[in-house]
Amino acid sequence: MIDIKREWEELVSRAVSLVLREAGAAEETLPAEQVVSEKPPRPDLGDLAFPMFPFAKRLRMAPALAAARIKESLERIGGAEGLPGEVNVAGPYLNVRFAMAKVAGGIIDEVLALGEKYGRSEQFCGQHIMVEFSSPNTNKPLHLGHLRNDILGESVSRILVACGAEVYKVNLINDRGVHICKSMLAYQRFGEGRTPEAMGQKSDHFVGDYYVRFNTWSKEDSSAEEEARDLLRRWEAGDEEVRALWSTMNRWAIDGISATYSRTGIGFDRVYYESNTYEKGREEVLKGLEAGVFYREEDGSVWVDLTDIGLDKKVLLRKDGTTVYVTQDIGTAIARHGDYPFDRLIYVVASEQQYHFKVLFGILERLGFPWARNLFHLSYGMVNLPEGKMKSREGTVVDADDLLDELSQMAAGEIREKGRAEEVGDVGKAAEAIALGALNYYLLQVSPGKDMVFDPKESISFTGNTGPYLQYMGTRISSMLRKFDAMGEGFAGRFRAELLQDGDEWEIVKLLGSYPDVVERSGAEYNPSLVTAYLYDLSRTFSRYYHDNPILHNPDPDLVATRVRLCRAVAQVLQNAFGLVAIPFLERM
Ligand code: ARG
Repeated sequence: MIDIKREWEELVSRAVSLVLREAGAAEETLPAEQVVSEKPPRPDLGDLAFPMFPFAKRLRMAPALAAARIKESLERIGGAEGLPGEVNVAGPYLNVRFAMAKVAGGIIDEVLALGEKYGRSEQFCGQHIMVEFSSPNTNKPLHLGHLRNDILGESVSRILVACGAEVYKVNLINDRGVHICKSMLAYQRFGEGRTPEAMGQKSDHFVGDYYVRFNTWSKEDSSAEEEARDLLRRWEAGDEEVRALWSTMNRWAIDGISATYSRTGIGFDRVYYESNTYEKGREEVLKGLEAGVFYREEDGSVWVDLTDIGLDKKVLLRKDGTTVYVTQDIGTAIARHGDYPFDRLIYVVASEQQYHFKVLFGILERLGFPWARNLFHLSYGMVNLPEGKMKSREGTVVDADDLLDELSQMAAGEIREKGRAEEVGDVGKAAEAIALGALNYYLLQVSPGKDMVFDPKESISFTGNTGPYLQYMGTRISSMLRKFDAMGEGFAGRFRAELLQDGDEWEIVKLLGSYPDVVERSGAEYNPSLVTAYLYDLSRTFSRYYHDNPILHNPDPDLVATRVRLCRAVAQVLQNAFGLVAIPFLERM
């Protein structure tokens, strides 16, 4: 839609300039930005409305009169070829109705000519953007909060790529620290040499169970916490036995977590480990201390004072020389910029850590890194279940794998209940794709910053504002197109844009035309919910149209060909948008 809108804005601006010049009110051509268009309050008024007040003032005439003059001059500009639409004066407004056939034909052609490239832009062309997301800890498996994080990071990355950026996806695995030692300690005490393989358990769940075990044990035994700290000291000292256990358990955790990543279809260009970067953090802090950016307290600890930018004083090295969370992040950021000199770095991390990132960005700026101004915390809200809050220590979190299993089972049940199993073929595979569609759509449909409640039942419903509903729309178009294609060679209908006369057809065409704009905005705002909202709009409009209008069963073959081509364009845009928000497109369900 953007093109026809721009075309009209340019036309009107030329017409206004002409009138202004004739009235001796302006020498120069009016810059196009001065001509603003609005969406008319009612669709029957047209597709665009231009308020005349600003020009009327310069012309010293009533707005309605100005509108009439501008209309006249537009008609002169249009000349023999005519304008791409119809112009009407409505009080102080100039209303424009687009020439639908011309516009519709153009948009549909463009969608089908560009195919999967339709909707890509160049707005971030030449930019290198690093996106960090997921960043789990190796003491437990992924939970529902990670699923929101993962899909946000993956989707924002895909959208930025569609906007022309070069994107480098990274993960930062927190594999060291006292909490990691806790699951190790519980395993040492209670594990009796068991292995995930022997227990037939997914290896990250196996590790997570020992973390929960630690927490129940530490409630009974006050020495548990001290023992965990002691284990951390042995780890820091490089104790071989401790390091060996650490490697084994980290492998278990990471292998399991990676299996969940492949199940959900997300991936990374590079994985960082805190155990590799925290030493670099210490070095950088010591350099900063020497440079006078940080200061040392009497007890030997090293601090930064950020009170001048409205933050607090923050310890960077404890008195025993150990590092804290932010120390590691300083090292990681610097190392990363060396590995991949990004123009921007986006951290997808929960809103609980907002303060942490303010401090981190403040410190990096103070250290004088020019890129520090281009760091962004994409903060997202909490996800809870309808039944309440998740608590990780008590093991009442919603495990990601369990949730995926549950969604997948519900989807399989739905397919069988509807008697679709034979049509679908591989029910398990389809159910898994529906589960992902349900999950990703539900998680992305809320703006990132907001807290949300994830309702599994609602998310998997085939009707309503859900992923499966969108997927179902896709399968209905696909099945209709299959039928059409089976009609084969003998079919002689031709596409004729002027046959698109239904109001919904026009709505659909306008939506198709506005898709590139939606992608650009969602990229500029790091907000996939604009894409999901768009998808819902398009699917709902299409569904109403499809219900009210026969596509294949029309006596006029040209009408069949025309509507089928419109449907093909809808299918293409659905597929493109599904790709950005990681909803699998299904031919059958
Ligand atoms: N592992 C951390 C956690 O679970 C999140 C890390 C976020 N990323 C970062 N660069 N600090 O809370």
